[in-house]
Amino acid sequence: MASRLVASHVEAGYGSVRVLHDVSVNVNAGETVVLLGSNGNGKSTLIKCITGIVQPTSGEIYLERDGARIDLVGKSPQEVVDLGIALVPEGRRLFPKLTVEENLLLGAFRMGARSKIDSNLAFVFEAFPPLRERRNQLAGNMSGGEQQMVAVARALMSDPEILLVDEPSVGLAPILVSRMIAKIKELKDQRHLTVLMAEQNFNQAIKIADRGYIIVHGQIEFEGGSAADLRDNDMIKQYYLGL
Ligand SMILES: Nc1ncnc2c1ncn2[C@@H]1O[C@H](COP(=O)(O)OP(=O)(O)OP(=O)(O)O)[C@@H](O)[C@H]1O
Ligand SMILES: [Mg+2]
Repeated sequence: MASRLVASHVEAGYGSVRVLHDVSVNVNAGETVVLLGSNGNGKSTLIKCITGIVQPTSGEIYLERDGARIDLVGKSPQEVVDLGIALVPEGRRLFPKLTVEENLLLGAFRMGARSKIDSNLAFVFEAFPPLRERRNQLAGNMSGGEQQMVAVARALMSDPEILLVDEPSVGLAPILVSRMIAKIKELKDQRHLTVLMAEQNFNQAIKIADRGYIIVHGQIEFEGGSAADLRDNDMIKQYYLGL
């Protein structure tokens, strides 16, 4: 199974507020694609459209899987997870009064993941040893870095093919951002994942990006065919990085 994720000419917003304007983004099987943009430019809104949390007002979002097309627009978040698309949400969104292990098990509810609970739990504990040590600790009592590990591990418990990661760097000290970004790359390689990561931390994100997009005011302003394309672009230096 190899899937390509496509968002084509997507328009979306909240009530009368239009946020995304004609957004087209695609992620090929096995790629790590980054969606770069500063606060409020629509990164999370696009991720929410893909995951069925926000419904686009027009445009298409679909998977191309083994020659078939599977539309995502109109699907519920649960149905999207069932298709093998997992979200690491912005701000982690853990259940603070549940233990680390209970949070992880909640990630495994989809049918395709239930039979693999033991092996996936062993895998995430191997990937994030602090979670094994603290499996019985309440998630709300974990540090920010540890909570981000739980959020990533919970997504992996659904045994995804495609991992959507929304701003893993938020609220973390620079050294932890670096480690988390490197870990996402490592997990992607180990699990043969396809990754779409929204980030505003340009320098960290492009360390693991195969290519990426810059979103400004809800529009894709630049599409880079490689990480170098993004790094070397004058428009980005001027308008996005303020250099
Ligand atoms: N639930 C909502 N209701 C109304 N407006 C919203 C809602 N969520 C987001 N918005 C607005 O949509 C725009 C884009 O927000 P979005 O969260 O997609 O940006 P972002 O790029 O993810 O930003 P950040 O880096 O801060 O997470 C913002 O102007 C925001 O105020
Ligand atoms: Mg966001």
